[in-house]
Amino acid sequence: MKGLILAGGTATRLFPLTIVTNKHLLPIYDRPMIYYPIATLAGMGIREVMVIVGGKSVGDVVQLLADGEHFGLNLTYRYQHGAMGIAHAVGLARDFVGDDSFCCVLGDNVLLGPSMADMAREFEEGPYGAGTLLYEVSDPERFGVAEFDADGNVVAFEEKPAKPKSNLIPIGVYFLRPDAFDVVNTLVPSGRGELEITDLLNHYLPGNLYAPKFEGLWTDAGTVTSLIRAAELAEQESRSGRLLAPPLRPTS
Ligand code: G1P
Repeated sequence: MKGLILAGGTATRLFPLTIVTNKHLLPIYDRPMIYYPIATLAGMGIREVMVIVGGKSVGDVVQLLADGEHFGLNLTYRYQHGAMGIAHAVGLARDFVGDDSFCCVLGDNVLLGPSMADMAREFEEGPYGAGTLLYEVSDPERFGVAEFDADGNVVAFEEKPAKPKSNLIPIGVYFLRPDAFDVVNTLVPSGRGELEITDLLNHYLPGNLYAPKFEGLWTDAGTVTSLIRAAELAEQESRSGRLLAPPLRPTS
């Protein structure tokens, strides 16, 4: 399985912190934000990773991560022009992915807890067309939101609904196969002018989506409040000795 990290976008929700720098370089506790999605993919045993860059300080992102050797990864980069959405960024990885399945992680998603190697394997070896992980939040209207049938199966996702149909959201971890690129080509921009990842996932609903709950701690870090929460969670995990598996070696 290959990996994809999305680290483009303009991060207007974090202005003025992101006027001159890339969101994914901001500190979360003791390390840059982008170290967390790197650890998420590394923890799944993934070694071949493409980072989609864009927005500010792209050179600094590359300088920080370099070829990925110090993380035990082989990193390549692709530039995303503008901010046309998560599904659009996924579409840029077509040549890199080739015939493999892949896991896409949003660059501002912090996952703390058990390795997801088992989940990655379950998706890859299973019958599913795509996958994501569900997590319960108190403010679902900020995210994609899952809708369930009477048997508890996900039937659809709605992006940032005014009236959420549940408290469970798809977090920024997406398991995909190469046919996702054909689906991306059929998507139309949403009201906010983006190709939405929830529209891509909806193509596999009902019935063809792997969607277990993530049992660790999760937050995004795309707003000031969630950035602080991410730092608090990371500090808490660090004190308990559980921060990030496998441990990340410092850049020389
Ligand atoms: C994005 C996705 C949303 C998902 C969230 C997780 O939201 O569109 O479905 O729940 O990431 O972080 P955005 O960061 O664009 O607000």
